[in-house]
Amino acid sequence: MTSRRTFLAAAAVAATAAALRPLPAFALTPVAGPALLRRAIPSTGERIPVIGMGTSGSFEADAAGREPLKEVLRRFVAGGASVIDTSPNYSNAEDVLGDLMAELGLRDQIWLATKLAADDRAAGEAQFADSLRRLRTDRFELLAVHNLRDWKTQLAYARELKAQGKVKYVGLTHFRDDQHEALADIVAAEKPDFVQINYSVSAPNAARRVLPVARDTGTAVMINRAFDDGRLFARVAGKALPGWAAEAGVTSWAQMFLKFAISHEAVTVVIPATGKPDRQSDNLRGGTGSLLSAAQQAELVAMFA
Ligand SMILES: NC(=O)c1ccc[n+]([C@@H]2O[C@H](COP(=O)([O-])OP(=O)(O)OC[C@H]3O[C@@H](n4cnc5c(N)ncnc54)[C@H](OP(=O)(O)O)[C@@H]3O)[C@@H](O)[C@H]2O)c1
Repeated sequence: MTSRRTFLAAAAVAATAAALRPLPAFALTPVAGPALLRRAIPSTGERIPVIGMGTSGSFEADAAGREPLKEVLRRFVAGGASVIDTSPNYSNAEDVLGDLMAELGLRDQIWLATKLAADDRAAGEAQFADSLRRLRTDRFELLAVHNLRDWKTQLAYARELKAQGKVKYVGLTHFRDDQHEALADIVAAEKPDFVQINYSVSAPNAARRVLPVARDTGTAVMINRAFDDGRLFARVAGKALPGWAAEAGVTSWAQMFLKFAISHEAVTVVIPATGKPDRQSDNLRGGTGSLLSAAQQAELVAMFA
């Protein structure tokens, strides 16, 4: 039985350990409001928030450009989100993200995805070691083969790292419609944990084959380019939201575009990229409230065809 003395000693040790643990530089008070929706990753059942974030462009920042990114990250985590996608070939994005996660004490709250973008096994190994160093971590939640580059060798390597416990999930990515058939064939044959693909109101082609194949093979789906790399915002300048937007809790076009993506049953998470804090808050709202009906999704596709 634990004596009072042993208990008090243990409590003192625990209190000291808690006091010594590095605190996040920001107070990460959860934001009040509707909770972010979550979806299960089919291969494990782990549930992740439907809104994540990308880092292409937005985290390729110089010293001055890092400042707003701290608030972008703070709002992301305080809003209940966790999934961040990066890649070794987004210039210095891995370094910036790694530095800011360390500075803010956030690594354990981030579900971190990076990629292999290499042409042979030796280059993949060197790149993976570099990504660990640049992102200041000893593991990744997801390691995906970038744009199907050298995919057989790199997927096999990613699977070895998964077996070693250095990555939790493996995947494959692309961002162009002309690669959807090839990607769908590989997903059907290889059944990776994740596939990442472009899908938006103006580029809905993934719904023809990649998304159904992912659903049928139990592959989680991460959506890139939900804003068509920002081009969609020029198309809606001065344009009113559909009359039914409020029913779905949508108050901006950004939320509408993200809600379109997550309203497909096969989609697990969408990763919009922004370097602006207010846009981060806007994007997070897109993952709350009710989803769009099939008729509402079809209306949006027709509007942007
Ligand atoms: N092959 C691949 O694996 C692959 C390919 C493409 C993308 N990706 C991943 O997917 C992520 C997303 O794709 P993406 O970055 O190409 O494009 P995106 O998310 O479709 O669009 C990003 C653009 O939208 C703007 N934006 C973001 N939120 C906004 C808002 N609420 N209101 C108005 N404008 C807003 C951003 O500008 P500001 O920054 O100025 O806000 C930026 O110009 C990438 O960052 C990357 O992580 C992967």
